[in-house]
Amino acid sequence: FDAIDVIRAKRDGGKLEPAQIDWVVDAYTRGVVAEEQMSALAMAIFLHGMEREEISRWTAAMIASGERMSFDALSRPTADKHSTGGVGDKITLPLAPLVAAFGVAVPQLSGRGLGHTGGTLDKLEAIPGWRAALSNDEMMAQLEGVGAVICAAGSGLAPADRKLYALRDVTGTVESIPLIASSIMSKKIAEGTASLVLDVKTGAGAFMREEADARELARTMVDLGTDAGVRTVALLTDMSAPLGRTVGNALEVRESLEVLAGGGPADVVELTLALAREMLASAGRPDADVEAALADGRAMDVWRAMIAAQGGDPQAPLPVAAHTQELRARQDGTVRGLDAMGIGVAAWRLGAGRSRPGESVQAAAGVEIRRHIGEPVRSGDVLAVLHTDTPGRFGRALEALEDAWDIAPEGTGTASRSIVLDR
Ligand code: URA
Repeated sequence: FDAIDVIRAKRDGGKLEPAQIDWVVDAYTRGVVAEEQMSALAMAIFLHGMEREEISRWTAAMIASGERMSFDALSRPTADKHSTGGVGDKITLPLAPLVAAFGVAVPQLSGRGLGHTGGTLDKLEAIPGWRAALSNDEMMAQLEGVGAVICAAGSGLAPADRKLYALRDVTGTVESIPLIASSIMSKKIAEGTASLVLDVKTGAGAFMREEADARELARTMVDLGTDAGVRTVALLTDMSAPLGRTVGNALEVRESLEVLAGGGPADVVELTLALAREMLASAGRPDADVEAALADGRAMDVWRAMIAAQGGDPQAPLPVAAHTQELRARQDGTVRGLDAMGIGVAAWRLGAGRSRPGESVQAAAGVEIRRHIGEPVRSGDVLAVLHTDTPGRFGRALEALEDAWDIAPEGTGTASRSIVLDR
């Protein structure tokens, strides 16, 4: 095979042969196909798409690039969830211990921030002492003992995706249905979970802004999972506004703790409960009373054990930013919309995310939302508090927030917001 022939075939809108797909994914993983060649192929796939058969084969080739794990040795059933990425999406933090409180093992192999979206590992690293890297043996022991683990995927799992993901991030080829579906599902199938719940986001802060595209992504991933023998369900959820009132690492941990203590913002609680019910149903516990486990502290107990098992101190104070600045309203009314993208970009610019691969993030940086959708506002009220350790970052962050609050004049009325749009 020749990389140029494969690129040309897709460039001209053709369908790739199974043997071509197997070869190009393997050769790229081994460094035989160059980064610039894979960049061209990724862009051709981005522009022309792939047929269902091609996506399945591409996913299988990415799985075959690395090891396959198995949770068969565990005494508990396993359930996993994966989100396509959003702003203020801290759901994994309360969700994993909540589901584990019912005796189900939750292996959450998580990632770091990408662009304007936050990463679960970056959030947990705000907790003093907590470490993301576990060996496979440590992970298995924690799943058996505590029930929940949130850690970095080992380097052996779908290495083709690891390389390709980093390449897509810098070549404008992230927002592609076949590339996202194969990226997520290759990791999940290789991980070996028995059941999977997908949280597919749509709206301004999602990679799939249009609902029709998000639906197609959800359908594609459910088919890939089902074909591989993983019980797979997808929820289509709203990402037009940030989830909850905090965007940023330590700020989101704090809010997750509120949910685990039985409180927290209604939208975060709604989505946590909806995903927990799906996970528990697919793991054979359809009647688990998930609300009770948040209210009576069972989920919090698992959280503490999970954090401590990875070296974290669940009682330690979370880092606080050295500088804060307020953003104030310039008119009266009711918040009709909140732009997830603008707020995500602001948090990123304040230091919650990276501007170069491998850079460290600020644990305490981010945006605290004081007026959310449906809430009344008076001119001069604080809409948000910005947090950072480097005050030179406020200016560009405030620029991103310029039109982030859509304030309707009084008396217009605003529709109530539902997070779960479809199943
Ligand atoms: N998450 C992934 O793991 N891969 C993608 O392509 C997008 C989101």
